[in-house]
Amino acid sequence: MAVPNLSVVKDAVNWPQVQTASFVAGCGMNVPERVVDNNHFASYLETTDEWIRERTGIAERRWSAPEVCASELAEPAAREAIAHAGLTIADIDAIIVATVTPDYSFPSTACLLQRRLGSVCGLAFDLNAVCSGFVYALVTADALIASGQCRNALVVGVDIYSYIINPKDRGTCILFGDGAGAVVLSAAAPAGNPGGASRWASGSAGALRGIYASELGADGNGANLLYVPNGTASRPTPESYAAGEHFLRMDGREVFKVAVRRLCDISEKVLARAGIAVGQVDYFITHQANKRIVLSMAKHLGVDESKVLVNIHKYGNTSAASIPMLLAESAAEGKIKHGDLLLVTAFGGGFTWGGVLLRW
Ligand code: ACO
Repeated sequence: MAVPNLSVVKDAVNWPQVQTASFVAGCGMNVPERVVDNNHFASYLETTDEWIRERTGIAERRWSAPEVCASELAEPAAREAIAHAGLTIADIDAIIVATVTPDYSFPSTACLLQRRLGSVCGLAFDLNAVCSGFVYALVTADALIASGQCRNALVVGVDIYSYIINPKDRGTCILFGDGAGAVVLSAAAPAGNPGGASRWASGSAGALRGIYASELGADGNGANLLYVPNGTASRPTPESYAAGEHFLRMDGREVFKVAVRRLCDISEKVLARAGIAVGQVDYFITHQANKRIVLSMAKHLGVDESKVLVNIHKYGNTSAASIPMLLAESAAEGKIKHGDLLLVTAFGGGFTWGGVLLRW
């Protein structure tokens, strides 16, 4: 297939932008039915609904039934995204699933999702960048499309943290929820291709839809601040299970500080790369780790809170799923519309972080 031309063009509002390789053609989300409110934790731990709301912004989260696996939670989100894009499963030629709670070590959850969807074509693989996983997957899909490997990539973020949280650790168990979100990232039509033009119809400002700029980062020195102890490096034993070493551990205070710094830094880098001022961004879509982290980032960047979209109060921190869930919910509610310029940023275990500037 023809690789899109990445030349600089001018849009209707006359500021320079890069012609995009890909754009978000559709989105969807799915959460388990079971709602777990803060009183659940207050009933057996030294915590309160007030403390959790004030320190995290979370009022409730969803938890899966124990028999539900990641590919099962992801399937309805994937189907919704494909339908929203006006495509069928036969059009999907790549599936990337960002998760740290896969169905199995292998085969990948992406392959298992492919089988559930009844798809037989294209590539499929999982990607682990913890809470930054969806941003990593989006950037990877954009690069695969730009290189001509695929045309319609299903990019999924799904996590079932109810499986890896220690119910006795009040510093972590209150934070996380289960969920899945998906987008279809489609190839932008090469300039002058009238056949493709309708599928990347311009937004309200007449501007091109798609990914303008992105940047990813990692620092493995933060590995011991947010991790799951058991693995091949520390094989599970009856004693390690008893000590809860198969559950997530986090130094929340330290992670909080690094998260705000990295989110601000990546936001500035991506905007600089695109030549866009912070004031030109319509909405900030940030990984829903903690409402205070998101608002601290906004304050440092000098962004009005009305531009920062939040749904953590309903779902908690859903790790790789939080950004595609926020995108899907905001689009369904009409908060974000075609033509809006979005800055999508994430920070997670690893440490990892990433940012994508896109026109919706
Ligand atoms: N209820 C009541 N008190 C609590 C609770 C609770 N649920 N949890 C902790 N506390 C206590 C602590 O024990 C501590 O008590 P002490 O002063 O007697 O020691 C006190 O509250 C303050 O603890 P902090 O950890 O400083 O509380 P903080 O305000 O930082 O909030 C939180 C904790 C919510 C975990 C916060 O640090 C946070 O959100 N951190 C970042 C999470 C994050 O961004 N993770 C990265 C992405 S997730 C991923 O990649 C998997």
